[in-house]
Amino acid sequence: MKVISVVGARPQFVKLAPIARACKDAGIDHVIVHTGQHYDAAMSDVFFEDLTIPAPDVHLGVGSGTHGAQTGAMLAQLEPVFEAHRPDWVLVYGDTNSTLAAAVAAVKLHLPLAHLEAGLRSFNRRMPEEHNRVLTDHAADLLLAPTEVARSHLAAEGLSDRTVVVGDVMVDVCYTVRDGLVARDAVSAESDYFVATIHRADNTDDPERLRAIVAALADAPAPVRLLAHPRLRARAEHHGIDLGAGAIEVHAPLGYPDMVAAVLSSRGVITDSGGLQKEAYLLDRPCTTLRTETEWVETLHGGWNVLVDDPAKLGRELRRDVPTEPRIEPYGDGTAAVSAVKELMVRAS
Ligand code: UD1
Repeated sequence: MKVISVVGARPQFVKLAPIARACKDAGIDHVIVHTGQHYDAAMSDVFFEDLTIPAPDVHLGVGSGTHGAQTGAMLAQLEPVFEAHRPDWVLVYGDTNSTLAAAVAAVKLHLPLAHLEAGLRSFNRRMPEEHNRVLTDHAADLLLAPTEVARSHLAAEGLSDRTVVVGDVMVDVCYTVRDGLVARDAVSAESDYFVATIHRADNTDDPERLRAIVAALADAPAPVRLLAHPRLRARAEHHGIDLGAGAIEVHAPLGYPDMVAAVLSSRGVITDSGGLQKEAYLLDRPCTTLRTETEWVETLHGGWNVLVDDPAKLGRELRRDVPTEPRIEPYGDGTAAVSAVKELMVRAS
């Protein structure tokens, strides 16, 4: 059986790691296509190296652009790649422009399409990721959902027949990496700092909002290690906002094991990333999310994750007590990639 995985952005490389391993173990001919949506070494290469993912078989080198230009360039370039390989499955991940481009390219060629991390919804139609995931789910033949909540969203849209809950592949990779760090004694003692990432257009592109977020981080009750995404740096520079103010220490983005180690040793996480909210939850650290909603609603249980829309209210949340309620375990047991690959094999026509 031949599977083509299409990835392009940082969170997709993380999800690809356990899938690539499960494909190898199952003897699947697995072709990896990198669209080039993320191209900085710290946003791309380091994930392939640290997570021992095979180098991409095809690299499209599409790079940055407006949503239409970027998605369109990927769509045009994926078509001949898919035609040349004629895989049994095209597998797409998450909700980026790379996901949508590959989904459209696959269905236009009548190739079976599977969507990993299907059924997530923010119900916020302003988010590009929301369009990407809704359109991809409706195009796909097989919806590999991470949770029961995701299954219920797909059911509400009439997609039950194509849905199977396999668990969340991010549990697979997060716990494998955490256990490796602990075994190598590579986690520092807990220390009093926050890990922070901000990259969503809703937070970075309006200068007044970005200024308010930076002011709130600068005022935090402990040092804030701000792992600055290139979009954040570019927007801050453009608007003349000093990212290094007050409590903030600006750092380059981290690779995956370094990020897990940084979160494990921290007092908590401040973010607008979907993946990092869940990593904080899996690693037992409180998270404060600078958004009005989250796709990962399970993390809100017991106050482990708290949503803050108004940056002026961030300071109070960062001073809240550590949650005492035990976490629930809705994301599976770390075998999601193996389950996903089994589904692909069983359903290959
Ligand atoms: C994308 C995804 C988002 C995901 C995020 C993870 C979409 C619509 N969004 O957002 O869901 O959470 O990746 O990081 O697909 N840039 C660089 N170097 C890079 C990559 C980007 O400098 O390697 C800069 C460019 O100025 C670019 C900007 O960052 O224009 C935004 O990059 P883009 O891939 O368009 O979106 P992200 O914000 O990274």
